[in-house]
Amino acid sequence: MVLVTGAAGQIAYSLLYSIGNGSVFGKDQPIILVLLDITPMMGVLDGVLMELQDCALPLLKDVIATDKEEVAFKDLDVAILVGSMPRREGMERKDLLKANVKIFKSQGAALDKYAKKSVKVIVVGNPANTNCLTASKSAPSIPKENFSCLTRLDHNRAKAQIALKLGVTANDVKNVIIWGNHSSTQYPDVNHAKVKLQGKEVGVYEALKDDSWLKGEFVTTVQQRGAAVIKARKLSSAMSAAKAICDHVRDIWFGTPEGEFVSMGVISDGNSYGVPDDLLYSFPVVIKNKTWKFVEGLPINDFSREKMDLTAKELTEEKESAFEFLSSA
Ligand code: NAI
Repeated sequence: MVLVTGAAGQIAYSLLYSIGNGSVFGKDQPIILVLLDITPMMGVLDGVLMELQDCALPLLKDVIATDKEEVAFKDLDVAILVGSMPRREGMERKDLLKANVKIFKSQGAALDKYAKKSVKVIVVGNPANTNCLTASKSAPSIPKENFSCLTRLDHNRAKAQIALKLGVTANDVKNVIIWGNHSSTQYPDVNHAKVKLQGKEVGVYEALKDDSWLKGEFVTTVQQRGAAVIKARKLSSAMSAAKAICDHVRDIWFGTPEGEFVSMGVISDGNSYGVPDDLLYSFPVVIKNKTWKFVEGLPINDFSREKMDLTAKELTEEKESAFEFLSSA
């Protein structure tokens, strides 16, 4: 049983087919898809439902479209929370946060009440880290490790930039890291990344021999990529976001390849990389048996430290505001 919220939106439109055709949970795993959106979108959602039926996917046992949380969150194995309140023109950051705290508090409570306790929850809707933290806090009976937020798109963007620069494909690049918030303060770090060149694995810094690009333009390109896509397309990233969600969930389900790590927003424990306790922060992780672990012991230089602290500071502020709304909501 897999839920996608914001199911009438543009990311879901790219995502649902991939889930339905077995690209995420495997080609032999039948699934029931549950689609949640808000009441005014039920007409559109009905069209998405018809299209999914018309795809005639052998693995898709059933599709349920609803605007009711008690229907949507029942018995879930996986919840992909894409829907959120979008930022409208003139809207203050705080107002946006407040509206989203309300949504993710309610969906967290619904997870707590109706979903399986083993449910894996992936938050995509922005501000993704803080929405994920809100949902987790509102679902105390579900282990907090079951909650993660999407920074895989940023991770893939970083891989792609390195691959483009070196004239290789993205799968020749591994172990990039996105630290922190899925916002423009995120820090894409390639100090531990490797690239395969002529069959040999080398460090990205060594392969590129262009430290000023790696510390400058590379970082800002990845940080600003979402905005660049919006500027060009007049719509936010959807195809690449859907692909990143598939990568993220597939890795939770089947594990990460030996010797590789990926980036995910997860709850910090206060003992890893100097990130304050109880912050939903993007870290390098490895996944085995549907359980993630921090990649431990990577050396952090001063340049990285400063950038990691900056994004932690932003997240701490976001968390404080969210908790104010959470207790008063
Ligand atoms: P969209 O506006 O096309 O679709 C969002 C859908 O969510 C709409 O159909 C809306 O009715 C629905 N929705 C709103 N409130 C809801 C609620 N309470 N319950 C269920 N559904 C609700 O937006 P798009 O492009 O699909 O993006 C979705 C979200 O993902 C946005 O918040 C966007 O910022 C975020 N995003 C996150 C990325 C990441 O890497 N973490 C990457 C790209 C987008």
